[in-house]
Amino acid sequence: MSDRQAAARQRIEQLRGSLREHNYRYYVLDDPVISDAEYDRLLRDLEALEREHPELVTADSPTQRVGAEPAEGFETVAHRIPMLSLGNAFSADEVREFDRRVRDTLDIETVDYSAEPKLDGVAIALRYESGKLVLAATRGDGRRGEDVTANVRTIRAVPLRLRGDRLPDVLEVRGEIFMTRSGFAELNQRLADAGDKTFVNPRNAASGSLRQLDSAITANRPLHFFCYQAADAEDLPERHSEILALLREFGFPVSPEARTVQGLDGLIEYYEWIGQRRDQLDYDIDGVVYKVDDLDQQQELGFVSRAPRWALAHKFPAQEEVTRLKSIEVQVGRTGALTPVARLEPVFVGGVTVTNATLHNADEVRRKDVRPGDYVVVRRAGDVIPEIVRSIPERREKELPEWHMPETCPECGSAVEQVEGEAAARCTGGLVCPAQRRRALEHFVSRAAMDIDGLGEKVIAQLVEQDLVHSPADLFLLDRDTLAGLERMGEKSADNLIQSLENSKRVTLGQLLFALGIREVGAVTAQALARHFGTLDALAQASVEDLEAVRDVGPVVARHVHAFFEEAHNREVIDKLLAAGVEYEPEKAAAAAGERPLDGCTYVLTGSLSSLTRSQAKQRLEALGARVTGSVSKNTTAVIAGDNPGSKLDRARELGVELLDEAALESLLESHQG
Ligand code: IVH
Repeated sequence: MSDRQAAARQRIEQLRGSLREHNYRYYVLDDPVISDAEYDRLLRDLEALEREHPELVTADSPTQRVGAEPAEGFETVAHRIPMLSLGNAFSADEVREFDRRVRDTLDIETVDYSAEPKLDGVAIALRYESGKLVLAATRGDGRRGEDVTANVRTIRAVPLRLRGDRLPDVLEVRGEIFMTRSGFAELNQRLADAGDKTFVNPRNAASGSLRQLDSAITANRPLHFFCYQAADAEDLPERHSEILALLREFGFPVSPEARTVQGLDGLIEYYEWIGQRRDQLDYDIDGVVYKVDDLDQQQELGFVSRAPRWALAHKFPAQEEVTRLKSIEVQVGRTGALTPVARLEPVFVGGVTVTNATLHNADEVRRKDVRPGDYVVVRRAGDVIPEIVRSIPERREKELPEWHMPETCPECGSAVEQVEGEAAARCTGGLVCPAQRRRALEHFVSRAAMDIDGLGEKVIAQLVEQDLVHSPADLFLLDRDTLAGLERMGEKSADNLIQSLENSKRVTLGQLLFALGIREVGAVTAQALARHFGTLDALAQASVEDLEAVRDVGPVVARHVHAFFEEAHNREVIDKLLAAGVEYEPEKAAAAAGERPLDGCTYVLTGSLSSLTRSQAKQRLEALGARVTGSVSKNTTAVIAGDNPGSKLDRARELGVELLDEAALESLLESHQG
């Protein structure tokens, strides 16, 4: 070997080692120390060297993730150890039953379990010999799967070569290939931009990407991998949780949400904990998996038919279901925006029975090709409003007519306008439209606005229908007898309502502004305006430029606010409110405009707060100049932890980053806001 070649070999080895280590930090530890651009530079250096020295290229080099020659088809491979399935539980009772059977068989009081998210992707078996990836196979029927090694090699989260020097000769691991939600969104955007067909959900995208005959295509898909089991290896630790820790050492990413828990209570607590965090995870899960942690105990429990007796999948209620769309109705919002709403055959999805789902706007109805009479996929994730994912045109029994937005408002018959550059169609009826009046009143009385108890939708509908209330100010002129005469209103509730109207007359300026329902002015903007101007008069006289000087008020909001106060009938409503006895107190003064006391500070929020939402906390911190980011690093000033904090808390402890609780956050905000 020439000196030059020896030097090249050394440099190549060094680059490979450092790329592997960075890959490990990125995918396994979730703690990269170099930027993506730096990583790419190292990779390009290696590629260049390997081009000069093709004889030094090896299959496990980090450059070998770009895809091989397209294949004709996939070879079938037998699994040395069958890939089993899991028993399912859909209720806590079934979990109790599982735990009881396990305890009875083992004859012990409390069982240690490993609890993990049940990843919604594609199962994969990876075989390593002398630390090198030699085979990747899909589950298939459990006994035989397909050889997808060329494709799996392109997935950066899958190590091509294992770390460490005490590696088993042979190691087979199992895990799930999946696509993150963010990766899925980006991929679909890319496909749509190129005019290609998009994927329905991350699981289909993962499976479709993994089954490409051309691995160069797979290489361009954002696939990820988590390992959840070791099979076929010698000298493994005695507990599943220890095996997972060892697999991480070897360089396999393991779900950071995996935990060991004790007994039935531990299982149920874990299920609830993950259930609460489900929407915050960047990957889809369809439940959790419980595994008896001790391998001897696993062995003792054994298998029934094709599933282990020592493991159980506890499923979440499905987030997507198919049902029939009976009709599309149009709802009129507070500002006249028309929203098509799907009326559905009742369907149990995401843990509740759903009968309505939003279709957002006419474009969306067209894009998803949703027609009354169609079978549709309904999705409800967490507390999110149920929505129609798509129609299933294949299931149409006959040709169905397309749906169009009506040309006149279904509530008041006024013309419907489509504003340039806006997705929503609008009713032009303004306060003539009873629907807009109802919604404006519902908004006016809501908690964050005037906070008037006892005025529900049904009562408001009657007040509008019977012409008793035209504008919010009229609410304060209602007398007890009129109210008591309404349906569902006894004398007692009438008295209570009069009292709560009276109580609501003292509000902050921010609340009052928010209650007025100025377009684009949410609670936070209202508060900012109140702080800046101090009085209604000052605000009413402000020019568009004056308004734009308020932090976070842009030209659009400024124009809406200005236009609102230009309108004579709006000023009239305000005068009437004040005449009826509504009084406001000025908002607490903010830090002087332009002052950013938290400039340069970076915070991370985790867990749920009780006095304000995470997004409110974020806004308030940002208003003081701080940055609020999603991941903890050495540069984080402090992590603010609410209830049920996630792994970010662990991360903060690891890095020695300061921790603040909710009370500390409050005093931080207070101290800067006087
Ligand atoms: S363990 C013998 N753990 O669920 C036990 N499976 O119904 C083997 N899955 O096809 C599976 N997340 O792809 C296990 N943390 C996890 C899992 C998991 C998802 C999938 C797996 C398998 C199916 C079993």
